Amino acid sequence: MKILMVGSGGREHALIKKLKESEAVTEVICAPGNGGISVEATCFPVKATDIDGIINLALCERVDLVFVAPDDPLALGLVDACEKAGLRAFGPNSEAAIIESSKVFSKELMKKYSIPTADYFIFDDPEKAIEHIKNSDAYPVVIKADGLALGKGVLIAYNYEEAENAVKLIMRDKVFGTSGNSVVVEEFLTGPEVTVMAFTDSKTVIPMVSSKDHKRALDGDKGANTGGMGTISPNPHYDIDAQKYCMEHIFLPTVHAMNKEGRPFKGCLYFGLMLTPKGPKVIEYNARFGDPETQVVLSRLITPLIDIVQATIDERLDEIDIKWDADASACVIMASGGYPGDYKKGYKISGLDKNGQLEGVTVYHSGTIIKNQDFLTNGGRVLGVTAKAGTLNQALEKAYSAVKKIDFQDAFYRKDIGE
Ligand code: AMP
Ligand code: GLY
Repeated sequence: MKILMVGSGGREHALIKKLKESEAVTEVICAPGNGGISVEATCFPVKATDIDGIINLALCERVDLVFVAPDDPLALGLVDACEKAGLRAFGPNSEAAIIESSKVFSKELMKKYSIPTADYFIFDDPEKAIEHIKNSDAYPVVIKADGLALGKGVLIAYNYEEAENAVKLIMRDKVFGTSGNSVVVEEFLTGPEVTVMAFTDSKTVIPMVSSKDHKRALDGDKGANTGGMGTISPNPHYDIDAQKYCMEHIFLPTVHAMNKEGRPFKGCLYFGLMLTPKGPKVIEYNARFGDPETQVVLSRLITPLIDIVQATIDERLDEIDIKWDADASACVIMASGGYPGDYKKGYKISGLDKNGQLEGVTVYHSGTIIKNQDFLTNGGRVLGVTAKAGTLNQALEKAYSAVKKIDFQDAFYRKDIGE
């Protein structure tokens, strides 16, 4: 099989490495990819959101499967376009990807089908949102842009001024563009966060092993929200009771709800959960694999990923038994100074071998390019240094000792992943 991977981050690097473990996969190409990915797969400079460009590439290269990893091409209907062109594709179509691309949709879905989530109100008028916040006078309050915003569209306000400012930033200044045409104003929840990604073909739901992402930029969960600064798997908070509860009250009801809405979901459905004192609740859905959750979760997958992908597309996930490695896994993201705000690119990365790797760990590349045989930084998140071991502490130790051997100008990473 020849596969086209669409996307350019550490998640795509991890997906490609995993797919290539299987003998059935003879070649993987990637668009647009990155420096680290180009060691594994020929990369083509076509943007993930260039729907026509991706379809042309897939047809010219005669691929057997298009794997759509990022959120924006899914929302734009790349899977639909593939199907129209007679190409096999992994990922939900745009009608189903709306579960991530509109928070208004996902909140209304949860309310309609009694899926536990934070209480909320929806506004498309900033005055009304501000008036509501003033009247309810409950802080902290969470304000979310409706649409996609690179994981940055959620603002937590601790007082009225901050809340008013958040509404203005999203709805008037449109810092997230049209994603801010509507906002969700919701109850602030507390408790440990858990990520569970699940394979679903719209009939069967198979949760993967759990993980935990660290979304804030700085140690102690300080600083701005990022795409994710590091992950561990399993998530120690996610016990058997929570697993049973989530399957019964969240995972199955969500997939059934999408069927009832005429939007059957096929692909990887990501559940961002919070284990609140009142039980697990949904914080967000994603219509795709998480980044950097994929790096830790897939490194524990024993069953060939390609078999699961095929079964998902053909709606025969009920025939598959997915096996996981009992070892724990940890990923530490090395980022460019300034991220998630402005940062510089083009710094030489030292400490990696010619394949962009380092012994004892797997280095998933998020934002790198190769120039004159050197790996250079080329993004906010640069590398995801990932290790596996018998215990979580050992995995973290391995990952951090590797991180210390890698360097580039202004590099920073969180020192408390997994704590
Ligand atoms: P999201 O992009 O929806 O996952 O939100 C980003 C982060 O904001 C989450 O990982 C949580 O840490 C935080 N967050 C979102 N919604 C809430 C909420 N209702 N209560 C508390 N924290 C929240
Ligand atoms: N790490 C969070 C996400 O992929 O949305």
